[in-house]
Amino acid sequence: MENLLPKEKQAEFHLLKLAKKQELTKNTFSLEFEIPKNLKSQFKFEAGQYVTLKYPSKGEMYYNDFSMTSAPFEKNLSLGIKINQEESSTKDLFHDFEIGDFVEVSTPKGRFTLVSKPDEFRTIIGFAGGIGITPILSHFKNILHHEPRTRLFLFYGNKTRDGVPFKKEIDELAEQHKSRFHVHYFYSREKVGNAFLEGRLDEKKVGLIINQLMMIDDTDEESTLWDSVDEVLICGKGEMIKSLANACFHHGIPKKNIHFELFEEYNDDIYPQEKEFPMMEDIEVEFKLFDKEYKTTLKNNKMRLLQQLLIQKYPVPYSCKSGICGSCECVLEEGEVELLENEYLTQKEEKAGKILACMSVVLSKKLKVNFDLI
Ligand code: FES
Repeated sequence: MENLLPKEKQAEFHLLKLAKKQELTKNTFSLEFEIPKNLKSQFKFEAGQYVTLKYPSKGEMYYNDFSMTSAPFEKNLSLGIKINQEESSTKDLFHDFEIGDFVEVSTPKGRFTLVSKPDEFRTIIGFAGGIGITPILSHFKNILHHEPRTRLFLFYGNKTRDGVPFKKEIDELAEQHKSRFHVHYFYSREKVGNAFLEGRLDEKKVGLIINQLMMIDDTDEESTLWDSVDEVLICGKGEMIKSLANACFHHGIPKKNIHFELFEEYNDDIYPQEKEFPMMEDIEVEFKLFDKEYKTTLKNNKMRLLQQLLIQKYPVPYSCKSGICGSCECVLEEGEVELLENEYLTQKEEKAGKILACMSVVLSKKLKVNFDLI
């Protein structure tokens, strides 16, 4: 779409020096950048956030997002990156940049974050698929460092044993924090002599994890380990997130405590829509985003507003797509929507006309929203 705001204008970029580059598995690698003193405040980040790298590949400029694997207290900023296929631009990123070179890196962003609670006794579980481990690794390092009472469980799925990014680092952390960090690896394409650890991380596997691994809580005879789960972090591909988030929800974890980060474009709903609405067709939508005015038509209201705008390739901000993170917050200036779920906006904000595009079903023929009035 030719009139989209170029991605470079949506973020502030700085040249950072590559301090370390390491091949992790056959198709993943890590990059570590030095943060000079004068840029420390710009590159202050929270666990779970990401940066955009701007780099050339085959005559084109690429803007790709990568989550930090480093924790905020660490000196350098580290990323984990996957080479999806032979012709991926990330392959050039790996081969063309050497230690000492400078790369354009955006300031950190993202809402896959958690409030730190150093004084509480918490149980947090993480589900990661492949390179989806990156933000969860940052979270876990951060929690182990800042929350002495919190215990962590990681369920990490990969295809084979020799294709597990960051395994050494994770195993070292688990060894160092034996009493409160437990990791279980799952393999979808390799027999490892234990059926429980074979296969994908999905709804069925969550049931097995609850019944086989999270039954007994040594610190509390009255309840199970699963009962004590406070927060769930999930990161990977859309289908995996959908399956795991729904499983956790059906097993009693409130949606507001299930946090996820999608590592691919995914336009399906994470949680199924339960309510039926009167069908609207040919809906005229006007919206303002990053100082630009757009006009478009939605075929109907079967899908939510955010989903439809993303399908039409508008750069609308989002993260959870479930009414939890607030990334898609906007102001309804004209028309009507039904907000299906909202764990983010206060009643006062809703009254002031704020809505979440990811949870909004359009109920009028004309709609005007503003993403810039936040
Ligand atoms: S994308 Fe998170 S609330 Fe809409």
